[in-house]
Amino acid sequence: MSNFQYINVLSRNSIGYINLNRPKVLNALSRSMVREIVNAMEDFDQNDEIKVIIMSGEGRAFAAGADIDEMAEDDPVRFELLNQFKDWDRIALIKKPIIGAVHGFTLGGGFELALCCDILFAAENAQFGFPEIKLGVMPGAGGTQRLTKLMGKTKALEWLWLGEPMSAKEALHYGVVNRLVAPEILLEETVRFAEKIAMQPPLSLRLIKEAVQKAVDYSLYEGMQFERKNFYLLFSSQDQKEGMKAFIEKRKPNFEGK
Ligand code: CAA
Repeated sequence: MSNFQYINVLSRNSIGYINLNRPKVLNALSRSMVREIVNAMEDFDQNDEIKVIIMSGEGRAFAAGADIDEMAEDDPVRFELLNQFKDWDRIALIKKPIIGAVHGFTLGGGFELALCCDILFAAENAQFGFPEIKLGVMPGAGGTQRLTKLMGKTKALEWLWLGEPMSAKEALHYGVVNRLVAPEILLEETVRFAEKIAMQPPLSLRLIKEAVQKAVDYSLYEGMQFERKNFYLLFSSQDQKEGMKAFIEKRKPNFEGK
């Protein structure tokens, strides 16, 4: 396994652990740190001994967002040349289950990283949110998409527009997290769950993950196109002609299934 500067990694009993480790800046996600996280995930993904990945944060926070100092002077051309979100995109290609154990501030890019996990265990003191709007920007690593898919449009807009923190209880209520636990047993409870998952057949785990992801990814647009084709198709049926004719003639339709 590679040497990492901003994270700690450990493998034990079929579980690969990634602990974000820049506690002095509340694990603010610099680009190098994100690259390390994704490299570690890919290492675990390729390692036959590892069945499940657990990600957590050291100190007071899981992660308080992307590193504001690093990006304060950025401009669109630099973003384009850096192609910085390509590392984030690699997370979606990880085949093994990723379980987040989050506590404290889980904000901005930190919340986006948490939303990349397949399952989330949260400490009761976890605080989620997208404060980007207060910086005059918006989430850029999938936050608007992943939160909306979880909560629905109206609720997601409320959180994204206000930029206010969402308590762990609220996150549980809206289905953003799977379990709420006392901070002192967060890791223990997450590991207990991960150990159960690690007992399951690995191929089933990965194919189930892939299939569920497809269900999430199927966009409203694609769904609407599909619906429209079927809607059109029905206009080639005799029952459509009969149904509408009967309505106009104010009588009961006689459907024949043709
Ligand atoms: N980037 C860089 N440094 C950060 C940081 C961040 N996102 N969040 C916290 N820090 C640093 C602080 O600057 C501070 O450093 P110094 O000690 O050197 O001053 C240290 O971490 C501790 O933070 P605070 O003293 O501010 O701690 P606090 O308890 O008073 O407040 C907080 C905690 C409310 C989380 C506050 O730190 C905060 O508001 N952080 C920024 C949250 C934020 O806006 N996140 C979104 C970032 S943008 C983004 O993520 C874009 C994207 O979608 C990719």
